[in-house]
Amino acid sequence: MTAEPKILEPVTPEEAAVFSRLKLDALPRHVAVIMDGNGRWARQRSLGERIEGHRAGTEGVRAATRTAAQLRMTALTLYAFSTENWSRPRREVAALMSLLESFLIKEIPELMENNVRLVASGRLEELPASARNKLAHTMETTAGNDGLVLNLALSYGGRQEIVDACRRLMRQAAAGEADPETLTPQGFAGSLYQPGLPDPELLIRTSGEQRISNFLLWQIAYTEFVYLPVLWPEFRRIHFLEALEAYQNRERRFGGVESVRP
Ligand code: IPE
Ligand code: IPE
Ligand code: MG
Repeated sequence: MTAEPKILEPVTPEEAAVFSRLKLDALPRHVAVIMDGNGRWARQRSLGERIEGHRAGTEGVRAATRTAAQLRMTALTLYAFSTENWSRPRREVAALMSLLESFLIKEIPELMENNVRLVASGRLEELPASARNKLAHTMETTAGNDGLVLNLALSYGGRQEIVDACRRLMRQAAAGEADPETLTPQGFAGSLYQPGLPDPELLIRTSGEQRISNFLLWQIAYTEFVYLPVLWPEFRRIHFLEALEAYQNRERRFGGVESVRP
């Protein structure tokens, strides 16, 4: 039996104020986050090493996961490492991989407590074997949880995901198992890394940058973007709540003429 996480209870007056304005029956089912600004955070603090920023960033991951679980969301996708991030200095990549490994083990009690199931998206075969093993272990341990799906984007690229889906479909077609003429957008989406997840309604990027950096290119066709000035290691529940409020003030149209408020 997995525990149902407690419902979010605002702590500070700021949280309470934003929380009281949120429509809890109109929250996004799926939120995606580009966790950016770790290096700048370390530099601002004269910590020298960028990796200190990555280490501090795990607090933001915990805050985001807990908030999404306690708001009963379906899914949270966190961009943890892009295919392009392999081009960073070897020392930084190695440190990120070892941080990932310790996160995957240390976070298990927290994931269980919040009824979170861990999954991953990306070219996982490119990760070091020790990280792959820990990832598999945490995914297995949390597989029975039926609350929030925490989707970690690791060695992830949006273009690579689309190419990987095409490869799968082309192999099926070559084997006579799929007919190219009957392929639809929905059918195509079925070959992406996590076909069971709804498209994200909201995408948050921290650090003030306003770009996509090869994240979820297919799934964001009608996603609302919220850019926050805060650096990722400073990201806390209040920032998540503020992004949700911004999302709920948007008018969504989906190409039609009617505006739909979430
Ligand atoms: C995001 O922070 C973490 C990863 C990309 C792994 P950055 O490391 O990109 O931090 P900035 O953008 O240099 O400040
Ligand atoms: C995007 O951030 C990747 C992750 C957050 C994991 P980057 O910092 O790598 O993106 P750019 O280089 O600023 O576009
Ligand atoms: Mg960055």
